[in-house]
Amino acid sequence: MTLVVDRIGLLVTNDPGLGEGFLGLVRDASVVVADGQVVSVGPAGQVADERIDVDGACVLPGFVDSHTHLVFTGDRAEEFTSRMAGRPYDGGGIRVTTDATRAASDDDLRALTASRMAELRAAGTTTVEVKSGYGLNVDDEARTLRLATEVTDETTFLGAHLLPAEYEGRVDDYIDLVCGPMLEACAPHSRWIDAFCETGAFDVDQCRAVLDAGRAAGLGLRLHGNQLGHGPGVQLAVESGCASVDHCTYLSDSDVEALAGSDTVATFLPATDFSTRQPYPDARRVIDAGATVALATNCNPGSSYTTSMSFCIALAVRDMNMTIDEAVQAATLGGAVALRRTDVGRLSPGSAGHLVVLEAPSHHHLAYRPGVPLVRQTIT
Ligand code: NIG
Repeated sequence: MTLVVDRIGLLVTNDPGLGEGFLGLVRDASVVVADGQVVSVGPAGQVADERIDVDGACVLPGFVDSHTHLVFTGDRAEEFTSRMAGRPYDGGGIRVTTDATRAASDDDLRALTASRMAELRAAGTTTVEVKSGYGLNVDDEARTLRLATEVTDETTFLGAHLLPAEYEGRVDDYIDLVCGPMLEACAPHSRWIDAFCETGAFDVDQCRAVLDAGRAAGLGLRLHGNQLGHGPGVQLAVESGCASVDHCTYLSDSDVEALAGSDTVATFLPATDFSTRQPYPDARRVIDAGATVALATNCNPGSSYTTSMSFCIALAVRDMNMTIDEAVQAATLGGAVALRRTDVGRLSPGSAGHLVVLEAPSHHHLAYRPGVPLVRQTIT
């Protein structure tokens, strides 16, 4: 069965070999997909079994959202409201969501996750990473990861998200639990391991221990770092060979230099800076130094309750000194690199047939028309 997506006015391929600039832009194009894979990108008018005529619209690769915490229940709108009135974000609300998530049934969590997945898809996301981190005990971390595997292969064990209340004053014991029995229960449901390296969460030695244990268990590494202030997260991520260090809101010159000399992706989460009233990072500085950057939503009930990659693109352009082309690439190919995936985030022969059709003539409208649901169709 072949499908041709035809009469594309402007196609973003992310393959400079196929078209103009680093986005590999092709005008008046079509894409042929067979058995879920792109088989050709060519001029409009190719033939296939099924045809979708997009009538001059812009088409781009499905967004790759490389950082979410989708499996949770509970509402923290009051926390957000009080932040908007001046209260700072400190991550403490993670325990509120943990209490609610532990008490929820599998079916309730499954239904909530499915509805968030539907929201993501309608907004153009076709690949999504999902972290645990609201279970914080062996059974609930493993349970939430098992539920996450029902919706994605990109699952991340984040037992080291915050110290659960019952371990107050015993952080070393908790790290032993995370690196031992919890990892053993969660590794079968996880591709990645992550830790929250921040004052108030876990320190650099505790995070290093978690990453080392994850590596020994065969998991890929990622890290939350430099979200609430300057700190050692970026340096630890680079030293440890993490695929990505996420947040990067506060970066020193040596952090930028370390990222530029590494293959660790700097993943920015601007909707978090929006929702926590943090300053936006200067992505220009990181890009100009030569590092690879990604954009992701960080969808979670505390610091960033959005599933919209378009919103992140608009913020990155308006407030992080990224060009629109850079932001669109960071939300597609950048996310794929952050997940060490070569099959998504681009539209070229051999890649996944994940396409987003915009209700717009160009990808620039993603920033030009903020807040407008511009995704006409998501094809996978
Ligand atoms: O990425 N930084 C830590 N974790 C999430 C916040 C989770 C929460 O507040 O519930 C984040 O911002």
